[in-house]
Amino acid sequence: MARVLVGVTGGIAAYKAAELARLLVKAGHEVTPILTDEAETFVAAKTFEALARREAPRELYPHLVQADLLVIAPLSANTLAKLAHGLADNVLTQTALAFQGPVLAAPAMNPRMWAHAATRENVAGLRERGVVLVGPDEGELAEGEWGVGRMSEPEEIFARVEAVLARRHELEGKRVLVSAGGTREPLDAVRFLGNRSSGWMGVALAEEARLRGAEVTLVAANLSVPPPGKVELVPAPTAAELEREVLARSDADVVLMAAAVADYRPAEQSSGKRPKNEQPWTVTLEPTGDVLAQLGARRRNGQVLIGFAADHGETGLARAREKLEAKRSDLIVFNDVSREDIGFDAPENEVVLVSAAGERRIRKAPKERIASEILDEIVKLVPK
Ligand code: CTP
Repeated sequence: MARVLVGVTGGIAAYKAAELARLLVKAGHEVTPILTDEAETFVAAKTFEALARREAPRELYPHLVQADLLVIAPLSANTLAKLAHGLADNVLTQTALAFQGPVLAAPAMNPRMWAHAATRENVAGLRERGVVLVGPDEGELAEGEWGVGRMSEPEEIFARVEAVLARRHELEGKRVLVSAGGTREPLDAVRFLGNRSSGWMGVALAEEARLRGAEVTLVAANLSVPPPGKVELVPAPTAAELEREVLARSDADVVLMAAAVADYRPAEQSSGKRPKNEQPWTVTLEPTGDVLAQLGARRRNGQVLIGFAADHGETGLARAREKLEAKRSDLIVFNDVSREDIGFDAPENEVVLVSAAGERRIRKAPKERIASEILDEIVKLVPK
């Protein structure tokens, strides 16, 4: 049982928040609904009060901020902006400003509002401060438009709330090192050899580890997603830098090598920008150091080591099994990149967890959910 504050802002999705409140009450939580005036133009506070068997507070009282979690669903563009700037003009924004526990938010708005530079900045600000965003999803919106802006389903938000509550102390006192993103190997001052990794999966893993109480360091090659908040961020754009930064922290309790590290880099780098001429440009590539294999070779007792393998189909899966042994890892997360609907740049993924104990397929789901399942597996491997 936990004390959960359910913030509801104005938007057609407000009616779905009633279902979220119902699921939370049914799971045994003490739910306090907090509605903005705008929310009350869509649904009556009474609906929530009846479901929660508790009155919606009309002013901020101290007991509120002692709750275990605040979930805001739907989060409108307006309240999102207020939260990003620390405004406190109603009970919900006041509570959010005073509350120090975990905050989850499920944005819902018109796709153009979601895509607007102002909203992008506000979202990045919230994430930097550790707010966990659930969705928004792509789909048809109430006004008939199609796009990203639909509130995630109440079941999905509920599952994320439950996951955060159940796991918030699991990795307390543990140091978790995550590498993420794709390295870029310079050819000259302006060109590089890179790969399609966005860093999304690694960022989701770092966020999930932090939510479980771990002290997290994210060694980031080039990310095309915003980094999570409340983690130590170490930039490492090339394979050599990533190798140096990861090995310097190789005493962590858990290391997740989610970065797509280049296997080869140009043996020579032209200084400045190489001018064009009529001749072919032949580049010799030399191998980079294998970071995971080095971690495997020097791992200490009780340390948990996770590798990732982005490869094609069944043969790729067979190669992932070989990597488990070759790189002395506890787990290889295999990701079939021959499929267009998952993996690179996609919000969803489907993976196979390969360990000495066997294999487990995690069905297609948002990357945040996959990250949570991977962390479930890791928690079992970490010595208490
Ligand atoms: N990896 C690493 N250092 C490298 C290359 C890869 O630490 N120079 C790590 C990746 O972060 C990942 C794992 O090794 O966790 C698997 O990477 P992958 O490139 O799939 O495996 P390789 O051993 O490089 O084999 P191949 O490219 O032939 O599939």
